[in-house]
Amino acid sequence: MINVSKLKKGVVIDHIEANKGYKIFNQLKLDESEDVVVLMRNVPSQKMGKKDLIKIENDINVDLTVLGLIDPNVTVNVVENGERVNKIKLSLPEKVMGIMECKNPRCISKHENVGEIGFTLVDAGEKLYRCEYCDARTSL
Ligand code: CTP
Ligand code: ZN
Repeated sequence: MINVSKLKKGVVIDHIEANKGYKIFNQLKLDESEDVVVLMRNVPSQKMGKKDLIKIENDINVDLTVLGLIDPNVTVNVVENGERVNKIKLSLPEKVMGIMECKNPRCISKHENVGEIGFTLVDAGEKLYRCEYCDARTSL
């Protein structure tokens, strides 16, 4: 097993569904980060069989909205002085700004530059969101 050392200070995004780690890596724009970042794939896990995991040394502003949308089951561990000081459990966000696009071809947001579009969760099971401009339902 490849050994990646514990963090002194940073964020560990754990319990990522196997194969979703790279997508999260990109969504968080970690390719542009100056910090030390490790993406581990297919890590053996008791609970999940296999999981992905991302370690980021140093503080970043992890956009929890993005994480909750891509994979609401991930755990965000905040590490300081080599100890986990906070464990954040995510959920599907009620409101999403600027990440999703409306799937309705007649929506005004498709024809005019309206800036960031707000979406409101209407069905958590189906991951359905309602567009603030046209009320159409969009799933991720
Ligand atoms: N971790 C780390 N550096 C630290 C502390 C923890 O990189 N200083 C990592 C661990 O390697 C692990 C994750 O953070 O991948 C969570 O670690 P831990 O707090 O030990 O919790 P676990 O019991 O492993 O996980 P959980 O409680 O979430 O099931
Ligand atoms: Zn719309």
